[in-house]
Amino acid sequence: MSFHAFGLSMDRDAAKKAAGEEAATLVQDGMCLGLGTGSTAAYALEAIGRRVQAENLDVRGVPTSFGAERRARAHGIPLTTFDEVSTLDLAVDGADEVDDELRLIKGGGGAHSREKVVATQAERFVVLVDPTKPVDTLGERAPVPVEVLPMAITPVRQMLEAQGARPELRMSSEKDGPVVTDQGLWLLDAHFPEGISDPVGLNRILCDRPGVLDHGLFLDEATDLFIGHPDGTVDRFAPERV
Ligand code: A5P
Repeated sequence: MSFHAFGLSMDRDAAKKAAGEEAATLVQDGMCLGLGTGSTAAYALEAIGRRVQAENLDVRGVPTSFGAERRARAHGIPLTTFDEVSTLDLAVDGADEVDDELRLIKGGGGAHSREKVVATQAERFVVLVDPTKPVDTLGERAPVPVEVLPMAITPVRQMLEAQGARPELRMSSEKDGPVVTDQGLWLLDAHFPEGISDPVGLNRILCDRPGVLDHGLFLDEATDLFIGHPDGTVDRFAPERV
């Protein structure tokens, strides 16, 4: 499967909207949903909200961030938690990069730790992107966000450098200081100028590292990929469904 031969100059918002609206067509009455974060997932939440209102659908959603929670409330999507439901029928979310094996980098919005919990609990995890997101090699454009305890920031930074990364503490544009996640932690954006040669090995190292809550590599979670296009069409890929 190959889906990354696309140009980069386009109306990305129209493409994101197409992917988000297509995702909303998957929602059925009675479903428990995972509600993603970011500009592409926002279009899905808006369209899901419209269907919930128009068709009086009985659905419940688990949000992946404070932002997604606020958006879901604004669109009238009822919310729940993993204290009330254990599995989700469907989760929808965006991504910063996707490769030919449906492996992802997420967390451009810093929400990847909750996003991974939601994706893991979902029977179907549909990733929504515009045509700029597919890549040959993970890491070639987007950094891997790593959510870190503030007191562990220096040792984790050194560990990432030893793995060939150029880590940068994510700084806030609104205040003089680091971005603070929904969990009260900080983010190191690990840039890999040559791309990530061994995502599986890097995933293992990051998962085993004390002080790291979670990171933005999603290697096994995605079941479907929807690539929206500016003309409103959507290409669907679902390797294990065809
Ligand atoms: C949020 O932390 C992210 O994982 C987003 O899903 C990802 O950054 C994609 O965002 P956009 O849909 O805004 O490009």
